[in-house]
Amino acid sequence: RLYKRQMMCRSDINSLNVPFLALYGSLIPPEEEKAKQKQLLTLLENLVNKEWPNAKLYLYGSCANSFGVSKSDIDVCLAIDETDMDKSEILLKLADILKSDNLQNVQALTRARVPIVKLMDPVTGISCDICINNLLAVVNTKLLRDYAQIDARLRQLAFIIKHWAKSRGVNETYQGTLSSYAYVLMCIHFLQQRRPAILPCLQEMESTYSVAVDDIECAFFDQVEKLHDFGHQNKETIAQLVWGFFYYWAYCHDYTSSVISVRTGTIISKREKDWTRRIGNDRHLICIEDPFEVSHDLGRVVDKFSIKVLREEFERAADVLQFDPNPCVKLFEPY
Ligand code: CTP
Ligand code: MG
Repeated sequence: RLYKRQMMCRSDINSLNVPFLALYGSLIPPEEEKAKQKQLLTLLENLVNKEWPNAKLYLYGSCANSFGVSKSDIDVCLAIDETDMDKSEILLKLADILKSDNLQNVQALTRARVPIVKLMDPVTGISCDICINNLLAVVNTKLLRDYAQIDARLRQLAFIIKHWAKSRGVNETYQGTLSSYAYVLMCIHFLQQRRPAILPCLQEMESTYSVAVDDIECAFFDQVEKLHDFGHQNKETIAQLVWGFFYYWAYCHDYTSSVISVRTGTIISKREKDWTRRIGNDRHLICIEDPFEVSHDLGRVVDKFSIKVLREEFERAADVLQFDPNPCVKLFEPY
């Protein structure tokens, strides 16, 4: 690992720009898909408001953070101020309301880690998960969407990394690998620490948007249209950045003592967060701080077996991009 830390990327790395951008283009959802999602949201809103006139529905996750590929399911959050019902009761009631309409496979999963109602809309063909009052997810969705508008390379990079993670089987939290949300934060962090930087740190700037969600103050600069040339000093291409991302996670990140933090735009120490030892199931083998829920390590799902899998995959990807004669095929080869 030490010897590889000195490495430069291959001289013809830019020949990968065309295939990477073509892959990105093929993954972007077409406009009509967005319209169908809106249509389903409106239908759900009308049904919900008949029972709860003050309730609101928000899209979150990949359908709203601009990191969603074509044909994804949608994630919806029901914001409701219903003090005399607990979450399970609300979910069961919600499922009843939705079943009475023409929606299919309506199911309340009240015992899941994040309790939801699942459904499928036969008109648009879209599947949807509805959770209750998960407003932090709605706010972190906005943060990700705002970052994506600053420099086009973030969205390109994250699509390619997510596609790689799905192809290689390392996007499965129940198997100890990382969520899509974690991968996008890793991409944002990576672009924040490039020199010159490609992304700023929105939470360190003067706040123009602020909401309090369950005692957590979420504040950041959201006038991103003013940041359109932020990354212009940095001329790195998408191929260089994809290589750089894997190289960083394979050979440069200090897994023993570092935490990546999009909130501060830099690395912070595990010691500072008291993430140096295992507490319960949190092993902190790769540390990714949630931008708002700062006690939450998105790497907490990773165990001593899956950390090895992950690091070997980062190294494999860096080495494929460096040495393989056909890196674009090899990189995404099914595991
Ligand atoms: N989320 C969160 N905390 C987590 C995991 C997820 O707050 N530990 C929220 C985030 O708002 C995230 C959303 O749940 O955007 C959906 O998470 P995930 O399924 O990981 O990401 P998607 O962007 O929906 O990715 P995919 O395209 O793979 O569905
Ligand atoms: Mg999702």
